[in-house]
Amino acid sequence: MDNFQEDFIQNHLFDLVENANDLIQSVDDKGRFIYVNKSWRRVLGYSRDDLNYLDFFDIVCRDKHPQCQSKWELLRQTPSIHFVDTIFYAKDGRQIYLEGSVASHFKEGRFAGTYCILRDVSERKRMENDLRKQYAEVLQLTERLEHLTRRILEVQEEERLRIARDLHDGLGQYLTLMHQQMQRFHLPGGVDDIRSALEGLERHSKSAWDEFRRALSDLRPPFLDELGLEAALDWKMRQFRNIFQGVVTSRIDLTGMPVISRSAQICVFRIFQEMLTNIQRHSQASRVWISITASSGQLDIEVGDDGVGFDASRIYKTNLGLMAMEERVKMMGGVFFCKSAPGRGTSIKTVLPGASQDSNVKSDKI
Ligand SMILES: Nc1ncnc2c1ncn2[C@@H]1O[C@H](COP(=O)(O)OP(=O)(O)OP(=O)(O)O)[C@@H](O)[C@H]1O
Ligand SMILES: [Mg+2]
Repeated sequence: MDNFQEDFIQNHLFDLVENANDLIQSVDDKGRFIYVNKSWRRVLGYSRDDLNYLDFFDIVCRDKHPQCQSKWELLRQTPSIHFVDTIFYAKDGRQIYLEGSVASHFKEGRFAGTYCILRDVSERKRMENDLRKQYAEVLQLTERLEHLTRRILEVQEEERLRIARDLHDGLGQYLTLMHQQMQRFHLPGGVDDIRSALEGLERHSKSAWDEFRRALSDLRPPFLDELGLEAALDWKMRQFRNIFQGVVTSRIDLTGMPVISRSAQICVFRIFQEMLTNIQRHSQASRVWISITASSGQLDIEVGDDGVGFDASRIYKTNLGLMAMEERVKMMGGVFFCKSAPGRGTSIKTVLPGASQDSNVKSDKI
């Protein structure tokens, strides 16, 4: 070793170690602290006095103990250097992620302790964790979107089949009857026969017309185009009252109704329709309460029932009704709440903003 190196080691090495940005520590063969530098004390917050009562394993995060223990055993057996990736508890309880290397040192052939140089990588680890979480969320959303798209296509086919069946069984039957009645005009017969055929024709054409109107109102909410959202919601509620067996209490007050686009009105109607359809199909409820109010530029719809309820955390992923409801609300920039548990009824609430935020809803074909 030349003079310069000797001078450096004797007079400057300690300053370099003490003032280094990395955390530097030395422990004896029992893991008791011999030395820690300034950065070590600053990052972890322990004073020199604190370290008199602690050994190295006291501040290693519990999850990292097994890994730390096995590395310690290796270091004890032979002089060696190892990569370390660990977590220490700071004095205030925070977890500090550290990476670096550890070397064992031996005196007269016996293990005497370790030297360790570590870098605080907490910020990077936190960012990695955030990224991992965001990635998992994106995956989940993509999965949900794929499922939603699949279900939408299925529902479209089911809907077409239903309309075809409805037309065949409803309108189709009346048209067949009318055709049969018209054929009677070709048969020889008196005025009475013609009158009875005409009466039949009149009766069946009225039924066909009723059937046609019913099919139309299923396809497109009546009143919405002519009278607006309030009348359409009121119509839906009255229709529900007629078929629901239990008690329905309701409050509709749309005096402070925000301006919402036509496409958003259809969204609102469909959400309300699905809430009531679900109650009718699944709830077995005896009481239902409906509240539709508008104030401060927002529209609140809340529908609750005292029925069988369901596990709201699980069901979402598999069915379309609730998922579509939530997607529609999100599309309008609103908030969707669904509270339910088996045996404890269901309550669904949406808070929808007025015109300025609903510009995302572009299509009228909802
Ligand atoms: N008010 C309710 N009371 C009890 N269970 C309900 C209620 N609303 C929804 N559910 C449960 O949540 C499930 C999901 O509802 P969702 O509307 O998403 O689908 P669905 O009604 O089964 O089918 P669709 O896709 O035709 O709407 C239902 O199958 C039912 O088990
Ligand atoms: Mg449903």
